[in-house]
Amino acid sequence: MLQKYLKEKKKVVEDNLMELLGNYRDKYPEKLAKAMEYAVMNGGKRIRPILMYMICDLFDENKKSYDKIKEIDVALEFIHCYSLVHDDLPAMDNDDYRRGKLTVHKKYNEAIGVLVGDVLLTEAFGVVASAKNLEDKSKVQIISKLSEYAGFFGMVGGQFVDIESEHKKVEIDTLKYIHAHKTGKLLTAAIELPMIALNIENEKYQKMVEYSKLLGIAFQIKDDILDIEGNFEEIGKKSNDVENEKNTYPSIFGLDESKRLLQEYLEKARKIISDDFNGNQLFLELTDYFGNRKK
Ligand code: IPE
Ligand code: IPE
Ligand code: MG
Ligand code: MG
Ligand code: MG
Repeated sequence: MLQKYLKEKKKVVEDNLMELLGNYRDKYPEKLAKAMEYAVMNGGKRIRPILMYMICDLFDENKKSYDKIKEIDVALEFIHCYSLVHDDLPAMDNDDYRRGKLTVHKKYNEAIGVLVGDVLLTEAFGVVASAKNLEDKSKVQIISKLSEYAGFFGMVGGQFVDIESEHKKVEIDTLKYIHAHKTGKLLTAAIELPMIALNIENEKYQKMVEYSKLLGIAFQIKDDILDIEGNFEEIGKKSNDVENEKNTYPSIFGLDESKRLLQEYLEKARKIISDDFNGNQLFLELTDYFGNRKK
């Protein structure tokens, strides 16, 4: 069920991305538009925008809400892609491959890597502001949340502490802060933004946010495990957490304990779906996928 859903929605998301990228294609400076497209249309899993569709399906059986999330879907993936392009720069993780292809700064150059990140981040907010089927009130709330989750109190804060913590051992609480922010916040955005768009205001809202936080930490633990155990053909990136002396769950707890902790987070996440969302099948399968994905 999940595999079919992921495949189907990935196509929808990529059509949305191509449509929005069409606003820049062949416009001056053409090379910037090309580099944006290179950074975005390169085989990502699209798990964040797909989660937005899952939220629509969970709360709105008629799927009328799909129109409301089209642009915020693209905006979040733009921000995610920008975070990856900057994360790969020599000044940060210094990676040559992303999604099985050369990283943006390797394909073009570092200045273009910086600017492609800048433009995707900036345009993301413009995309939300000009969304066709969203009420103004929702737009303001969404823009505010998106800046919180992407910025100082979100992904950038996490990336900052991640980089500052290289080559030293940090406390477990700092490791948790890093994971919850650099990765967790954009996953919370994926779950919370569509709930704002759909005007969901019941007690389910907080339960879902809770669920997203557990998923976020689990997602990064799995990423750190795959950095060691994954192979290039599948994950499309070359391991370098050890070389960079990163603080990760495996580096602090070892692989076996990291796998146990991963399952512990996922078990808590599963419990929320079972207790508060009638054991929704797709969300249960998604939770498992966060533990057993190969890329
Ligand atoms: C990679 O994210 C960066 C992390 C936050 C761990 P994804 O694993 O979602 O990367 P893509 O988008 O599928 O390439
Ligand atoms: C980065 O974590 C999370 C981001 C905000 C980009 P990683 O540095 O572990 O992500 P990968 O392994 O390069 O995808
Ligand atoms: Mg990094
Ligand atoms: Mg990295
Ligand atoms: Mg990683």
